[in-house]
Amino acid sequence: MKLRIGSSRRKNYLCLKSEHLISNQTIQLVKDAMDIEEVVSDFVTLKRSGSTYKALSPFTNEKTPSFYVVPSKGIFKDFSSGKGGDAITFVMEVDGLSYTEAIKYLAAKYGIEIKEEEQTDEALEEQNKRESLRIVLNFAKEYFSDLLINSEEGKSIGLSYFKERGFTDHQIKKFELGYSLNKWDGFLKVALENAYNEELLEKAGLLVVKDAEKRYDRFRGRVIFPIHNVSGKVVAFGARTLKKDDKPKYLNSPESEVYHKSKVLYGLYQAKQGIRQNDNCYLVEGYTDVISLHQSDIENVVASSGTSLTADQIKLISRFSSNITVLFDGDKAGIRASLRGIDMILESGMNVRVVMFPEGEDPDSYSRKLGTSEFKKYLTDNVQDFIAFKLGLYSADAERDPLLRAEAIKEVVQSISIIPDPIKRAVYLKDSANRLDMDESVLIAELNKLLIGKRKSQPKENLNVQEVSFPSEPDTATKSHTDLIHIQERETIRLLLNYGRQELEEDYLLYHYLLEELSDIEFNTPIFKEIFSLFQEEHNKGRVVDSKDLIRNGSSAVKKEVIDLTTERREVSPVWEDKYKIHVPHEKDFLDHTVYQNITRLKRTIVQRLIEENKENLKGVTDHSEVERLIDIQQRLKDSEMELSKVLGVVIPR
Ligand code: CTP
Ligand code: MN
Repeated sequence: MKLRIGSSRRKNYLCLKSEHLISNQTIQLVKDAMDIEEVVSDFVTLKRSGSTYKALSPFTNEKTPSFYVVPSKGIFKDFSSGKGGDAITFVMEVDGLSYTEAIKYLAAKYGIEIKEEEQTDEALEEQNKRESLRIVLNFAKEYFSDLLINSEEGKSIGLSYFKERGFTDHQIKKFELGYSLNKWDGFLKVALENAYNEELLEKAGLLVVKDAEKRYDRFRGRVIFPIHNVSGKVVAFGARTLKKDDKPKYLNSPESEVYHKSKVLYGLYQAKQGIRQNDNCYLVEGYTDVISLHQSDIENVVASSGTSLTADQIKLISRFSSNITVLFDGDKAGIRASLRGIDMILESGMNVRVVMFPEGEDPDSYSRKLGTSEFKKYLTDNVQDFIAFKLGLYSADAERDPLLRAEAIKEVVQSISIIPDPIKRAVYLKDSANRLDMDESVLIAELNKLLIGKRKSQPKENLNVQEVSFPSEPDTATKSHTDLIHIQERETIRLLLNYGRQELEEDYLLYHYLLEELSDIEFNTPIFKEIFSLFQEEHNKGRVVDSKDLIRNGSSAVKKEVIDLTTERREVSPVWEDKYKIHVPHEKDFLDHTVYQNITRLKRTIVQRLIEENKENLKGVTDHSEVERLIDIQQRLKDSEMELSKVLGVVIPR
């Protein structure tokens, strides 16, 4: 395994051979060696602040620092973007790397030799195949770009075309643009001379093989747009014809083992830094839109390359930002087609905004028409959220036509219904009600109808907690209890993680107390259940785990949850203490009270849910003794609810 360490620490620190399985032993060595403060310092200037470090977030453009490093826990937390994790997560986030790539980066930093897992022969062969494809694709890229810059035909046809479109040398280089000769075997000959075989050329999509005799270059007499994957390797080409009536206008590489169209975004490699810095990604349709925007000094832009947006592509963007702004060409067909894309973005939990262009303009043509600063201004002045956008599509006629208005409302609520986060849904709903000048309850009713419909059409095991717990379903009481249980479970785990080792009495830790109290309770939320049982398991082995262990060894879901729960901000601003010398009580100061209240509340909610369930059970029963039994249960549950409420100082009406 050879690693090449480049001069720029942000990029190029490793090349080629990226998909090998790294052995667990190596990963463990990296984890042992990595020091969060050191790793972060390579990217961000840290300032000490007590036992932690503070800095301006590398993920957003903030003015006051809200990025923290906690060396004692080995973690970072960025309050402006919500990101958090250990050193591995940090490197993944800041440089857009995969887990494997991040481990390699850290191994290189700490001089740890990478040992690979023994691989099966088939796996090795697969790997070599992909590696060969990447090598020949890279060779082709060099060949095309050399032709563009140095050959007569390339210069007079290809380069002059790009120049006419206003592309500068800088962009041509950045996007590694090229030219293919107007011949049947221009590339084939050179490739064979360089010992690449025909089979490989065909697999890479560079050669079209008809039969034993007939084979020819796929790309002829076209300008070439190499398509890169996230780490900058060329995986395919798009090629534009320069002749007016030549079809198709763009010819693209076919799918291959290294190119899956639905998982690649044109320009992402060149955009990722910009997307992170601006915390937003512009989405356009074509190659030339991307390059023209770069020319207009906008670098956070990617293209779906003419196909409709896929979930995988959205996921790619989400590695760098959770905000997408879709730039629509000014034609109606384009808008209709892209509505689905907007819904997909919402569905993935990302935020989506929209900018439309005048009829007949695309981002490429319009940015050239307006020039850099006017174009930037156009984008900021014309950006709309998806609600305004959808309403806008109807607004002209909807004012007069009540049916159209109803349709517009349905459209908007439909989009809101697919947002996974219930809080976001609530916010958007309220906002829409205001804008439509409508009673919110009407929209809520419409939303509920959609949500219930969706629930019915989904197999049960696919439901996530949020959907199940949505407060709008038929038996509202049970559902809102489920919501409450979620919140209270979360609070319990938060206390356990943050104060587990605090002594309540001599030799009696808070953590002992919680384990005892909760021994007969099963957590409802899977992630909390998982964390809690990790505590229990270790306890049974006579060990005390803490949040640090969980962050280090837990699954990635556990890791994320633990970090969120241990870095949550709930203290009152230290200003009070520093400036006014007023002691603000911290929850630590009355921990036993807090914990006791919390557990009692959780238990009460669980009892309340049981009461509701029991009531439901009663409904269909006719057998006399069964009715009696259930009523008896009901009575006892009611009694415990009373008891628990007394403790909490709440009187509940009977
Ligand atoms: N596209 C494609 N195959 C086609 C046509 C289009 O892959 N036959 C993709 C390309 O990625 C193209 C995008 O769809 O960039 C948008 O198509 P279009 O609007 O026709 O092209 P423009 O990008 O506007 O290109 P140009 O300005 O050079 O005409
Ligand atoms: Mn165009």
